[in-house]
Amino acid sequence: MARTYKIVVFPGDGVGVEVVPETVRVLRVARDVVTGFDFDFVEYPCGGKYYLETGKEWPDEAWETCRSSDAVLFGAIGWPGAVKPGGVLAGVDILLGLRFGLDLYANLRPAKLFGGIESRILGKSSKDVDFVVVRENTEGLYVPIRGMLSRGGADELAVDVRVITRKGAERIIRYAFDLCMRRNGAPSDGKRRVSCVDKSNVLDGCRLFRRIYDEIVQSYGGVERDYVYVDAMTQWMIRAPEHYDVVVTSNFQGDIISDLSAVLIGGMGVAPSANVGERYGLFEPVHGSAPDIAGQQKANPIGSIISGKMMLEWLALKHGDKACEKAALRIEEAVSKVLSEEKVRTIDLCYGKYAGLAPSKTSEVGESIVRKIEKH
Ligand code: IPM
Ligand code: MN
Repeated sequence: MARTYKIVVFPGDGVGVEVVPETVRVLRVARDVVTGFDFDFVEYPCGGKYYLETGKEWPDEAWETCRSSDAVLFGAIGWPGAVKPGGVLAGVDILLGLRFGLDLYANLRPAKLFGGIESRILGKSSKDVDFVVVRENTEGLYVPIRGMLSRGGADELAVDVRVITRKGAERIIRYAFDLCMRRNGAPSDGKRRVSCVDKSNVLDGCRLFRRIYDEIVQSYGGVERDYVYVDAMTQWMIRAPEHYDVVVTSNFQGDIISDLSAVLIGGMGVAPSANVGERYGLFEPVHGSAPDIAGQQKANPIGSIISGKMMLEWLALKHGDKACEKAALRIEEAVSKVLSEEKVRTIDLCYGKYAGLAPSKTSEVGESIVRKIEKH
């Protein structure tokens, strides 16, 4: 019997409402072509704009629906002027609330350069760039242990506590090694490698993180050890991305280096992510709501579409569902074909040798990917 997956869809703010529909469309077509599984999509509005209209960040029932879902597809949140009392951007607590509430401890951010995209880094091609940042997603600097001290109406002191636990470090590092075993090694030498990125020359949390890495590495024969301080990593991953296979790090450091890794693959428009735990998964492009270009059909849907592909891969792995695996592959091949034909692309990819191309609309990119899936 074909399995039906309940997918909660949150397009959110700004370009989220443009890229997510393209993703849903691509997923539907991949399902129709491959067959053997089905989707039940449930969509909710949410985010900053919704907050300005309703005083709420999302509908009341959305949380329970997520709790009974198989996966969540997320667009982006954040809208100018939509700020909650205390200064928090409306919508951020939905995303962080889902990461913590659904215990999505692993944030996977692949940096894989497609043929037909020029790297923003000179001299790097698709044979050089294929690594995954595995960002811890439920602790570190993101734990809600923070506060502001105000005296006489003046904000005088602010504290954000950074928490690293044995449990949190163990599970993310183990996730990174297991992922490494499913991959083919680093582009430079084909060696399986998990790079531990930290600031253990200064921070105790990072010393604990590295110590746990040292314990876990011992049970993964054939995986090379690699240590990099996070500050040094900001140059090494740009100078020698081919050295990297799987990169594991704590929450805030992963936030920063994953944005940096996007320059290797053509920018934020094509950067995908998966937030996964034992039971739940949430899939979102790394880019934000981009209010400056929202509503103009300029946003690149590929980051979101590849996130949808990661959702299928995750469902395939979790449920042993070969049909989902096949559909994921179809999507990846279709995106790759569209890009390698060097014609259809949104404006963010029209640079370098593609500078003279007339930019495509968001929906035109979605449409071209759909056509390729159908043609296969
Ligand atoms: C990301 C974003 C989020 C984060 C924000 C929107 C809370 O930057 O997904 O990387 O900091 O994790
Ligand atoms: Mn970020």
